[in-house]
Amino acid sequence: MDLQGRRILLGITGGIAAYKSAALCRLLKTAGAEVRVVMTEHAKQFITPLTMATLSKNPILVEFFDPENGAWNSHVSLGEWADCFVIAPATANTLAKMAAGIADNLLLTTYLSARCPVAVAPTMDLDMYAHPATRQNLATLAARGVGIVEAGDGELASGLRGKGRMAEPETIAAFVGELLAGKGTAAERQSVDSVPAEAPDSRPLAGKRFVVTAGATIEAIDPVRFLSNHSSGKMGYAIAEQLARRGAAVTLVSGRTALDAPAGVTRIDILSAEEMYEATVAAFADADGAVMCAAVADYTPCEVADRKLKKGDGELMIRLRRTRDIAAELGARKGDRLLVGFALETDAEREHAREKLERKNFDFIVLNSLRDAGAGFRGDTNKVTLIDRTASEELPLLSKREVAARIADKIAGLAAMRPAR
Ligand code: CTP
Repeated sequence: MDLQGRRILLGITGGIAAYKSAALCRLLKTAGAEVRVVMTEHAKQFITPLTMATLSKNPILVEFFDPENGAWNSHVSLGEWADCFVIAPATANTLAKMAAGIADNLLLTTYLSARCPVAVAPTMDLDMYAHPATRQNLATLAARGVGIVEAGDGELASGLRGKGRMAEPETIAAFVGELLAGKGTAAERQSVDSVPAEAPDSRPLAGKRFVVTAGATIEAIDPVRFLSNHSSGKMGYAIAEQLARRGAAVTLVSGRTALDAPAGVTRIDILSAEEMYEATVAAFADADGAVMCAAVADYTPCEVADRKLKKGDGELMIRLRRTRDIAAELGARKGDRLLVGFALETDAEREHAREKLERKNFDFIVLNSLRDAGAGFRGDTNKVTLIDRTASEELPLLSKREVAARIADKIAGLAAMRPAR
C-alpha cells in the first residue's frame, strides 16, 4: 500500500480498542502518510497523547484551543488539511453524534467540516453493535458516503464473544488506501475554487436502485436435510456494499450466510431457489439494475418429505426437478435496465461465459475460473474476467472487496449512459 504524501487525520474515541490506534498510526506512517491525531477527552483514558504524539510525530489535538497558550485548534483547517479522516475506534456514542450532527468536541466539529472522505471503524460490545439504534446510525452514515470498516467477531473486552471487535489495523489501513485510490490530495483540491463537500462523482449511483443476489440456496429434502453448495456470499455482499458506497439504494436477496448486511443495505433473507426467485423478481420491478451473484440450485427435490426420511438397506433415489432461472427471467424483463451475471466455469470458460451473457441477456458477465489459485468460493480473494459484448478485461488476483469495487465502477460507468427512469 502506498500512501506517500497523503495526509491522514486519525480520530480516536474512548474505547478499549484505542490501543490498536497506535499500530494503525505506525502502519499509515510506514506507508508514507503524514498523520495527525485528534482525540476525544475519553480516548485519553485508553491511550496517552504522548504515545500518539510520538508515533505520529505531531502534537495531539483534543481541545478547541490550547489551554496553555490559548492557540486555536481550527476544526475547519484540520478538515481541509486532510486527504482522509479515519476514526478508529469509533464508539457507539461518537457514531450516534456523527449521525445526529452533534458537535460537542473537536473530533466531531472536524467531522462536520471535513471535505475529505471519512471512514469509521466501529468498536463496542456485541449487543450495542447489534442494537437497532447503532445499525440505524451506521446506515445513516453509510448513506452519506462515510466508509464503514465493519467490526469483526471475537472476544470482547466485556468477556463476551461476538461481533463488535474493531477491525485489525491492517484492514483499516487497507480500507484507507482503497478510499484514496485515484483521488487527488487535499492540497490539489484546495487549488481548485470552492470544492463541494464530496467530489461530485463519489456517489455516481445516487438515486438508483439495485438488487443483488448472494449466497447459496438451500433445497429441502426433508425437515432436516437439504441440497446446497459452497457459496459463502462474500462476493455478493462486497458488491452490495460497493454499490451502496456509490450512492445506490441496494436490496440484497441473500441465502443463508454468516455475514452481516453491509451498512445501509436492505437484506431479504431467503432459503430456496423458489423463494429467491419470488423476492428478486419483486424487488426488480422498480429497480434500475441487478447483479446476480447467488449460486442458485439448478435442481430441487420433486417432493419434500414432511417427516425425516428413515434409512433403508438399499439405495435411495431422490428425484429432482429444474428450478426457475432468476437471471434469465430478469434478462427477459430488463428493457434498458442493467443486468450483471456471474459464471463459474471449469472448461471452455470464455465460450461458456459468452453463451450465458447472450442467453440471460446480461450487460456483462463476471467470469470466475476454478482453475485460478485464490479464486472461487470461500476465500477472500478472487480472480475474474469482466466480459461484455465487445470486450473482455482480465483483472489480477484481488481481494473480493477490490473486485467488487471494479465491478461497481463498471456498473456506474454503464448507468451514466442510461436514460434516467
Ligand atoms: N442464476 C440465477 N438463477 C438460477 C441459476 C443461475 O439467477 N436458477 C444466475 C447466477 O446467479 C449467475 C448466472 O445465472 O449470475 C450463471 O449461473 P450458472 O449456474 O453458472 O449458469 P447456468 O445457467 O445454471 O449454467 P450451467 O449450470 O450450465 O453452468
